[in-house]
Amino acid sequence: MNTDVTHTQTTPGDWAPDSWQQRTALQQPHYDDASELAAATAHLAQLPPLVTSWEVLALKQSLAEAQEGKRFLLQGGDCAESFADCTSPIISNRLKVLLQMSLVLVHGLKKPVLRVGRFAGQYAKPRSTDSETRDGQTLPSFRGDVINGPDFTVEARRPDPQRLIQAHAHSALTMNFVRALIDGGFADLHHPEYWDLAWVEHSPLAAEYRKMVAGIGDSLRFMETLAGPIAGFSRVDFFTSHEALLLHYEQALTRQVPRHRGFFNLSTHFPWIGMRTAALDGAHVEYFRGISNPIAVKVGPSVKPEQLLPLIDALNPHDEPGRLTLIHRMGNANIATALLPLLEAVKREGRRVLWVADPMHGNTESTSNGYKTRRFDNIRGELDQAFDIHAAAGTRLGGVHLELTGEDVTECMGGARDLSETDLDRAYKSMVDPRLNYEQSLELAMLIVRKSVSGQG
Ligand code: PEP
Ligand code: CO
Repeated sequence: MNTDVTHTQTTPGDWAPDSWQQRTALQQPHYDDASELAAATAHLAQLPPLVTSWEVLALKQSLAEAQEGKRFLLQGGDCAESFADCTSPIISNRLKVLLQMSLVLVHGLKKPVLRVGRFAGQYAKPRSTDSETRDGQTLPSFRGDVINGPDFTVEARRPDPQRLIQAHAHSALTMNFVRALIDGGFADLHHPEYWDLAWVEHSPLAAEYRKMVAGIGDSLRFMETLAGPIAGFSRVDFFTSHEALLLHYEQALTRQVPRHRGFFNLSTHFPWIGMRTAALDGAHVEYFRGISNPIAVKVGPSVKPEQLLPLIDALNPHDEPGRLTLIHRMGNANIATALLPLLEAVKREGRRVLWVADPMHGNTESTSNGYKTRRFDNIRGELDQAFDIHAAAGTRLGGVHLELTGEDVTECMGGARDLSETDLDRAYKSMVDPRLNYEQSLELAMLIVRKSVSGQG
């Protein structure tokens, strides 16, 4: 495998997997027993990794191709995975939605789609406050299953180092099942019926999707009649990603390998830095600058070019292809003013990045009945504008980052069934942010195709 092509990243001389500990690390839990934490991280450091350096470098190569417009990135999954959702139907339904969306994209964009799940490690969440008070009782905020439990009890909310080991185990179970499904032919283009979700039979979008699938099946059979079975259609690659927030976990899974230079975070292929922890002098940037993985950073509306450019220098000093992805998450109301200066600055400096749109996180709001939701119109609007702004700047929108699920949820309002505030009660299951359901996800995939085909992408 010729994966060393893009591996020019070298380990900085003043960096070590634990050098982040000298910096301010935001959004970390307070563990009350240092020896318990040390024992858990020592144990974790002995456990096998979840991915390999070969896969990590193959992804970096593919991301380099996406930067050149030869591939499109589809990154999606839950806002927060939970241990309880580590079940066969939830994992396979999420895979089905991602496969259906990628089929729509491959068909419409006429280019390979790079599939990256937000799973097998998406267990730590940044929170706006460290603690939560209910009926006069104050407890630590829930920070994700790798840290503490969601129940409002002293016991559940205590940050428990054993959860580091449990998160690794649940990630491994998830990976194992995803790999087995893919290797077993679940993603075979000859059998898109494997990806049907039982509950969507009467979806308004199902007919359009089925028509497209039938068309692809016909072309595939036609080509194979002429040329014989075509390799590559029977399997696809799937990569994993998560927000590398809890640095003790990430450090314990940062490894050196015999055949490649440098240090790899082998808990995931593609870690990202969240918007709240992307300070240039912070612990997360320090940790990320030394690993050899392809990495991403979330960029919010308050970021100015004079902050972004030094961040790019710190994270990708040698302008290595495929190394750095910037995920902008501006909000439908802000993207028109906030994005263009960043695109222009990066272009002017000639820096190589993959631009990806996250139309979810800038569009979160609360309803009067207490739900955290997102309006589909805002999500669609931000994505629509993102394509136009990139076209105006002469840059390329190379992918999307979405929060979605294969479950029949009512968490985001609007979309094909026009869900309203009162519908949210019916099936609101997310522990953190509201996710797109199947129809809303497919509709976005169709929008991406329309925008790209109309020459604006
Ligand atoms: C997220 O992706 O779930 C998230 C918290 O994003 P951001 O850092 O952009 O707010
Ligand atoms: Co989220």
